[in-house]
Amino acid sequence: MPNKEQIDLNHIPQHVAIIMDGNGRWAKQHGRERSYGHQAGAETVHIIAEEAARIGIKYLTLYTFSTENWSRPTDEVATLMSLLIDSIEEEIFMKNNISFHIIGDINKLPEDVQKRLYDCVKHTSSNTGMCLVLALSYSSRWEITNAVRNIALQVQRGEISSEKIDSDCVSAHLVTSFMPDPDLLIRTGGEVRLSNYLLWQCAYSELYFCETFWPDFKEDEFQKAICDYQKRERRFGKTSEQVS
Ligand code: IPE
Ligand code: IPE
Ligand code: MG
Repeated sequence: MPNKEQIDLNHIPQHVAIIMDGNGRWAKQHGRERSYGHQAGAETVHIIAEEAARIGIKYLTLYTFSTENWSRPTDEVATLMSLLIDSIEEEIFMKNNISFHIIGDINKLPEDVQKRLYDCVKHTSSNTGMCLVLALSYSSRWEITNAVRNIALQVQRGEISSEKIDSDCVSAHLVTSFMPDPDLLIRTGGEVRLSNYLLWQCAYSELYFCETFWPDFKEDEFQKAICDYQKRERRFGKTSEQVS
């Protein structure tokens, strides 16, 4: 198992995105309800956020609730919403100089949840360390569709000309426009798919899939993912000779 010493602190990914999957199966494995898994998963969020901030990651983007997750049983959705109110530990963010952000179709969340989240955004806004971003009621297709609509409106109003629409213009209309693209995307829980997460932004991200269920994904597993990333050669379409 790699330890802290094996991470090269001069080669830390700037942005790590995580699809936190496996809460339900973890709970089942422990003979408990799915909600127990979500509770355990919320603790892991804080552990990984602290560890990511400690090693110098600048942006940590966590897939917390997808637009598709609204189709889960009503009681599970309710549990997840109340966890957003009860489990966010602002003190941990303050202690680690972490600023808290949210992206997604936030208006769809219950009002008390929105208030709790925006309070946390406000209270941590002057922290200058890592940005912790929760993707909530988020999906890439929702995001890209909105971006296309907004660009079309701007063209219609004569604010931009259609010739000016390039890749940077599209990126600038996404809800992630304040961040660089992810260097590393991790998915826990054994599934090998993106489930509508950051599809545009992950065009050149390194992908890391592991079997570990999210509640069991602790510092050592995170370090293992970072070490794996650090062994890779990112070529962005060039040859190995060009990039080395
Ligand atoms: C991830 O765990 C949390 C959310 C998607 C909200 P799951 O709830 O998807 O857990 P599994 O995949 O059913 O084990
Ligand atoms: C992806 O997990 C969404 C989040 C982790 C928030 P899901 O469990 O919803 O994904 P699928 O349904 O297995 O693709
Ligand atoms: Mg799942």
